[in-house]
Amino acid sequence: MPRKSSGSSPPPTVGVLGLGYMGLASAAAFARRGVQVTGYDVVADRRETVRSGSSPFHEEGLGELVASETASGRLRVVDSIGEVVASSEILFLCLPTPPLPNGRIDLGPIEKGARDLGAAIAHADGFRLVVVKSTVVPGTAERVLAPILRSSAGKGPEELGVASNPEFLAEGTMVADALHPDRIVVGVEDTRSAKLLQALYAVFDSPLVVVTPAGAEMTKYAANSFLAMKISFANEISRFSERVGVDVDDVVRGFGSDPRIGERFLRAGPGFGGSCFSKDVRAFVRSARDQGVRLRLAEQIVGANDDQTLHAATLVRDQLPPGAGATVALLGLSFKEGTDDLRESRALPIAQELARHGVRVRAHDPAALAGFRRWLAAEPASVQSVVTAVDTVEEALRGADAAVLQVPWPEYLAWPSSWTRRMRRPVLVDLRRAFPQARAASQKLRLVRLGDGRTIHAPETPSPQRRPVARSRRGGARRVG
Ligand SMILES: NC(=O)c1ccc[n+]([C@@H]2O[C@H](COP(=O)([O-])OP(=O)(O)OC[C@H]3O[C@@H](n4cnc5c(N)ncnc54)[C@H](O)[C@@H]3O)[C@@H](O)[C@H]2O)c1
Repeated sequence: MPRKSSGSSPPPTVGVLGLGYMGLASAAAFARRGVQVTGYDVVADRRETVRSGSSPFHEEGLGELVASETASGRLRVVDSIGEVVASSEILFLCLPTPPLPNGRIDLGPIEKGARDLGAAIAHADGFRLVVVKSTVVPGTAERVLAPILRSSAGKGPEELGVASNPEFLAEGTMVADALHPDRIVVGVEDTRSAKLLQALYAVFDSPLVVVTPAGAEMTKYAANSFLAMKISFANEISRFSERVGVDVDDVVRGFGSDPRIGERFLRAGPGFGGSCFSKDVRAFVRSARDQGVRLRLAEQIVGANDDQTLHAATLVRDQLPPGAGATVALLGLSFKEGTDDLRESRALPIAQELARHGVRVRAHDPAALAGFRRWLAAEPASVQSVVTAVDTVEEALRGADAAVLQVPWPEYLAWPSSWTRRMRRPVLVDLRRAFPQARAASQKLRLVRLGDGRTIHAPETPSPQRRPVARSRRGGARRVG
């Protein structure tokens, strides 16, 4: 049941530690809902940027939200954890939990944050509630972070509560997600903390699910693993569809309209990216294994995703003229539209795979070019010698044998005919199935859509008597219709 704020007393004050993608969006959304928010980040530049009313990264609508909430005074950035603790009843940990090579998450940064926060709470009067908003495996808040917090604060549970409140917002739609959450999940171990979080979240018009801390932590992993599995399932149907001349969207419409299934997250593409899915699925599997439980379905998700990315790169190579030295314009480098985040972006392994086969790649993105250049600078010479980041789409397309739509940024979808004329061969490989087919026809582009077997065929026009044949460089010639 959605709850309404009583309006009788102001909501509890909030402190946010970590003004990264998730922390900043959450902080700004609390402020927009009338909560007094104090933020802190260990990086001084980031503090300065937010204090001056800007977002340190590109995220649709976030800059505007930060500007208005810093101007209103509801979002304030300070230079020490002590100042955050002094002005906040509830303290959110929005710190990184990056992956380790063995699949577990690195708790180092959040443990350090908890230690520093505990030390600052030692000097505070009155009850404080620390809420773990970062994604952590079940049991972390209660068994790892609460003991650190309480021992460095020198306080017991009656003065220092610890709760879990995983965040479900997604990059690209962070502002809308943070302002209008589908649901809010909180994990609490005592009624005082539960009441405080209920009072805070009354400012949102969203259902509140109250469970145990470990239950809340598990919910986040179950949600992300299920979504990643849905995407991978659609990608496998998509590969089969390509082979037999079917458009995967026709299939998804047919089975996704079953309300037990649902069409969302059944969109075929080059594989999921972003900082969360792969990291969370691997940590979920690993954490279950550590407890003696096999998650066989979840174990397959990351491998299935890698297969799809490799397939996307092969689909691109299949459209190029034979022989070495073909040039591809890679359009869109972030992991999805609306963000400049390159973490786990499929553009990176696709560029590497094309480079490995001697394909020259000219890469463009309206928001993520600087980050891509940093990534490229750390790549081996074999990649750097064939992959170039370019400032304009025109430069990327000049003399290209194919363009690859990796992110459907609106400017790419608006494709003027002058762009087609810059290409050596007017082929657009749409890995996101987002380019309007009518526009491709009007701009004289041959559109090859991932997951649409009707559009995938060899560069040469097949004989009308024969079914189209696609040449897979992995599997040889194959029938597609
Ligand atoms: N990015 C998302 O879309 C998203 C969505 C849901 C959940 N999450 C989870 O949220 C957490 C944070 O993710 P993110 O993408 O915002 O990471 P991020 O790297 O963008 O942000 C983390 C921030 O914390 C700061 N920081 C590190 N140590 C600190 C300390 N001791 N004190 C203060 N600040 C410190 C860093 O400087 C950085 O600005 C992760 O657990 C992630 O899994 C992220």
